[in-house]
Amino acid sequence: MKNIILTGDRPTGKLHIGHYVGSLRQRVLLQNSGAYDETYIMLADAQALTDNADNPHKVRDNILEVALDYLACGIDPQKSIIFIQSQLPQLYELSFHYMNLVTVARVQRNPTVKAEIAQKNFEQSVPVGFFTYPISQAADITAFDATTVPVGEDQKPMLEQTVEIVRKFNSVYGPTLVEPQILLASNAACLRLPGTDGKAKMSKSIGNCIYLCDSEKVVRNKVFNMYTDPGHLRASDPGKVEGNAVFTYLDAFATTEDFATFHSPYANLDEMKAHYRKGGLGDVPVKEFLNSVMQQLLAPIRERRQEYAKDLPYVIDVLKKGTEQARDKAAATLHRVRKAMCLDHFSENGLNSAAARIGG
Ligand code: TRP
Repeated sequence: MKNIILTGDRPTGKLHIGHYVGSLRQRVLLQNSGAYDETYIMLADAQALTDNADNPHKVRDNILEVALDYLACGIDPQKSIIFIQSQLPQLYELSFHYMNLVTVARVQRNPTVKAEIAQKNFEQSVPVGFFTYPISQAADITAFDATTVPVGEDQKPMLEQTVEIVRKFNSVYGPTLVEPQILLASNAACLRLPGTDGKAKMSKSIGNCIYLCDSEKVVRNKVFNMYTDPGHLRASDPGKVEGNAVFTYLDAFATTEDFATFHSPYANLDEMKAHYRKGGLGDVPVKEFLNSVMQQLLAPIRERRQEYAKDLPYVIDVLKKGTEQARDKAAATLHRVRKAMCLDHFSENGLNSAAARIGG
């Protein structure tokens, strides 16, 4: 069996550093590892419309923004197929068939969907399409025979739902679909990077994100305005590292080499944390160090992004070619699915063989 990666993002805004440590960084490593036969990265515009139906221009513009973020981070179109979800009608059809294999109660239990409904104040106004997006996500994943799905932790319920659909499908219609596995970031800080305000998650509407394309000055300002330990008033006070967003970011981004590179008085993060806990280390030098680490990471991404942004026709061409390749793959899977479901009516073993039986 081939090793195949499928993953993607909703194009509803530019990508931020939470996306980067949560999944994007790992996707680039996997792409370059040589361990995968095929890699597909999807711009989930149809899924974005499930809760942005009245804002199609926003979704379209963000297809280009997210594609630029991908290329800037090192997703290489020679190695990974980047494509646009809505341009593959096969995905809509697979979703429709899978809907018969999932109960309404099961979709209602999905914790990510539940949280999103609460967060968007949908209450009684949840669009049916939004409610069922975990099923369409199963279509996205299975259409590519994906074995590995590198995503953020919030996508775990979608993968569980997909595995259930695969098992149900294969037990009813015979072995047809491939069961995927989720691949999460290995470090807790990367899994759940908080916003710069220390709140649970980075979110555009709260305004607590650092974007991959933010300028040097904006990054610096955001780092220096970050939430730390509210009880750490003077440098001499003992400080808390847990729940202190600056240290969570250092857990996610800083390497031991960074301490040497930036001439830190500490050999590693543990030493820095120990000093902060004991008292005598102010927030400013810690933020200064985090800023150096962030700038070192973001500068080359920002520069590459600016270069690609000068040649958007190239980016559009990458998406067009990728979408064509992806469509071929999804069409082959749909062919198998239709056959398994006795929907290949005009093929040799379709209605003709039924006619022979009935007419018999
Ligand atoms: N739900 C994902 C997000 O919000 C996007 C997505 C759609 C996806 N289909 C997928 C991710 C399939 C992985 C696999 O970012």
